[in-house]
Amino acid sequence: MTLTITPISSSVLGAEVRGVDLSGPITVSDRRRIYEAWIEHAVLVVRDQKLEPGQFSAAARMFGDILAQQLKKFALPDHPEVGTISSRDLPVVDGKLHVRGEEFHTDHSNFSAPPKATILHAVNLPSRGGDTQFCDARAAYDDLDEATKAQISSLRSLHVYESTHSTRKMFKLSDKERDAMPRTSQPLVIRHAESGRPALYLNTGRMEGIEGMPDEEGYALIARLFRHATQPKFEYRHVWQPGDLVIWDNRSVLHQANADYDPTELRYLYRIMLQGKPLEAYSAQAVAHA
Ligand SMILES: [Fe+2]
Repeated sequence: MTLTITPISSSVLGAEVRGVDLSGPITVSDRRRIYEAWIEHAVLVVRDQKLEPGQFSAAARMFGDILAQQLKKFALPDHPEVGTISSRDLPVVDGKLHVRGEEFHTDHSNFSAPPKATILHAVNLPSRGGDTQFCDARAAYDDLDEATKAQISSLRSLHVYESTHSTRKMFKLSDKERDAMPRTSQPLVIRHAESGRPALYLNTGRMEGIEGMPDEEGYALIARLFRHATQPKFEYRHVWQPGDLVIWDNRSVLHQANADYDPTELRYLYRIMLQGKPLEAYSAQAVAHA
């Protein structure tokens, strides 16, 4: 087999990987090519995999350290490091499945060290629907006018479990559980720890306005940046195929799920997130190099 990595869209966002079997040994040079392609393209689609849970976690470790599953009831009993996403676990409201990720976001942004990556492997797919959409938060930042870049360069937002302005449906928590959830001040523009590239860091479901800014003004700015970042020109929409393994970089993209498939069909994927580091403001780097 010969490893090939091909851009999947007209932009740099997303690449398709073929000619590799993640259940077997992979040469050091192929590992390096795959990792570097992931950093550059932010979303990698590895085709034609058939991974058992243990093989899936071994493949995930190529990219970093595994984050322990937060919700134990959605973890595999024999492989507690592997989570599951199943249509059987979703409530049906008015004949339509209800998913939590149905709005562009980045995972666990309220953590002091949000997961650097999220990895999914398709085990069972519905006959149609259930796509995952990605928007390139780096390209969205690059595309801003210079006045906006200057305006937002040192701004920060408090990320909490569920913003008072959230339109996303989060899991309902007890007061005690909610109090235990992390809350973290995050930069509005982050610097990627590996590539150094700036990116917008947005999660409208978790952002409590902008620090030091009146509420109305802060939420209006967030809404404007969110509309900008989620334009179709920044998007790659992944249509799942059997055997796909998809890994995305939470520091570079926003993502959203779709619950538009037949609720009687099984959609079942394995999921692992990888440990990240505290996020650095892009402005801190700019100042350091001034
Ligand atoms: Fe998500």
